[in-house]
Amino acid sequence: MKVAKLAPAPRPARRNVVAVASGKGGVGKTWFSITLAHWLARQGNRVLLFDGDLGLANVDVQLGITPRRDLGSVIAGRIPLREAATRYEPGGFDILAGRSGSGSLSMTPLARVAELREELERVAQRYDHAVLDLGAGIERPVRLLAGAARTCLVIATDEPTSITDAYAFIKVTRAERIVDDIRIVVNMAGSVREGERTYLTLRRACNEFLKFDPPLAGVVRRDDKVKDSIRRQASLVTRHPTCEAALDVDAIARELVE
Ligand SMILES: Nc1ncnc2c1ncn2[C@@H]1O[C@H](COP(=O)(O)OP(=O)(O)O)[C@@H](O)[C@H]1O
Ligand SMILES: [Mg+2]
Repeated sequence: MKVAKLAPAPRPARRNVVAVASGKGGVGKTWFSITLAHWLARQGNRVLLFDGDLGLANVDVQLGITPRRDLGSVIAGRIPLREAATRYEPGGFDILAGRSGSGSLSMTPLARVAELREELERVAQRYDHAVLDLGAGIERPVRLLAGAARTCLVIATDEPTSITDAYAFIKVTRAERIVDDIRIVVNMAGSVREGERTYLTLRRACNEFLKFDPPLAGVVRRDDKVKDSIRRQASLVTRHPTCEAALDVDAIARELVE
């Protein structure tokens, strides 16, 4: 059989990548991305989790898995992106893992990152949703990858440095028109009320200086069960599906797909 030569792939019409960003590290991006992916899968969706924080042990360590293949091999050109996914059976979703020491995104040539983004957009079409855990920072590679997203969830906590960094991320993303749909998630909030207050602080800055009004995707409460599940290298949705933080992420997942 003759194989038709393929024209360069157009950008997918149905964009279904949700990026999780923050600017600052340590605010719960990776944990949130895993939990979001797990809930989306539980709700009956085909889900892909992409670990965009290359070079640092992240998704695989939090879940205690040792993927046979990872994004390091993809970047090195050894395997195509579509063949690098690992099934995470307990969660019923697929993971494109970035393993520790596999070479960081900031060390990858920008042209390669751009290709990676296109491959991600294409592979994402095989799923209902793809969740993209972006690394910390707002450097070019992170912004480039973020361009794959239809929706960008920006995570902030009540720490002033986190609010400032979330604001900085929103500012560049807006200036460069990387993603239109930007929403805020406040994580590790002492209460829903406190989380809403953090959101209002960030929102006020966006209103005033960027003339932009980001909606609140949701507040996730601080919950000891999060640390417990990470320590045991299991998903929170498996271990404590009805704890506060799990329910908060579930609510965000439901609204996201509506
Ligand atoms: N809702 C929460 N409640 C309690 N602890 C949390 C919560 N979210 C995150 N954490 C803690 O924050 C730590 C950092 O999370 P991680 O996902 O690695 O952040 P990031 O990917 O942004 O660097 C986790 O190890 C966990 O202990
Ligand atoms: Mg992380």
